[in-house]
Amino acid sequence: MYFKESDIMTRISTGIEGLDKMLKGGLIPGRSYLIKGGPGTGKTTLAIHFLMEGIKNGEKVLYITLEEPLDILKQDMKKLGFDIDNPLFMGIDATPVGERTHIFEGTHYEEFAKSFGELVKAIKERLDTEKFTRVVIDPITMVKLTIENKLEYRRTFIGFLKDLAKYNVTLLITSELHETDLEDYLVSGVIELKTYEIAGKVVRGIKILKFRGSSFDEQIRPYRLTDKGIEIYSEENIFVGD
Ligand SMILES: Nc1ncnc2c1ncn2[C@@H]1O[C@H](COP(=O)(O)OP(=O)(O)O)[C@@H](O)[C@H]1O
Ligand SMILES: [Mg+2]
Repeated sequence: MYFKESDIMTRISTGIEGLDKMLKGGLIPGRSYLIKGGPGTGKTTLAIHFLMEGIKNGEKVLYITLEEPLDILKQDMKKLGFDIDNPLFMGIDATPVGERTHIFEGTHYEEFAKSFGELVKAIKERLDTEKFTRVVIDPITMVKLTIENKLEYRRTFIGFLKDLAKYNVTLLITSELHETDLEDYLVSGVIELKTYEIAGKVVRGIKILKFRGSSFDEQIRPYRLTDKGIEIYSEENIFVGD
């Protein structure tokens, strides 16, 4: 008899089969994860896969968009077969243009961006009034770039992750910043989406950099952005031998 690693701890599906395989069963719930990658690598799509999977199970999910206006996202995701016009999907539009929900009313983006604390407060208010199981912040990039008080940000970030653990929420934060920083150390897992140029061809690769509490696939695996979302080829390699 042998046991599978996935038996040891409960796992939740990311909504992407190949990624669940790379994670040896899925994400460990109640923890925070960072999804890193350049523009257009599929971070938002991955995050929506994750949220739709929760909805499929009848869970309420919370999505905070800081870059792409919610109405545009709705259109894009519809094309991929994700209908986020679902009562279980709560979206907060905190983008510089477009509609904002009342909590951000009168808040200029610049002001808001400087205040990670304000963002955290808004999220916690939501979690206090309703039970959400999955939360996405997409992306944290601008908030972070405009931060003035690094120490304050660090303190708020640590406090936020601790609080989320109490709410038993699984959090995905996306980021376009490549370098390793505070978030990488504090979250339970880091997943990177990258593009490579191999023999003049652009190839997309996904890599798990860290996953606390679990073993994981350490290979870079190829993935594609398709009209059904992200497809990960967890049995394939992107580097072909000579
Ligand atoms: N049907 C599709 N087939 C192939 N690629 C697509 C399709 N729909 C969207 N894409 C690609 O997906 C990418 C957008 O992914 P997105 O999740 O928004 O990335 P990110 O959030 O990292 O910027 C774009 O590069 C776009 O070209
Ligand atoms: Mg995006």
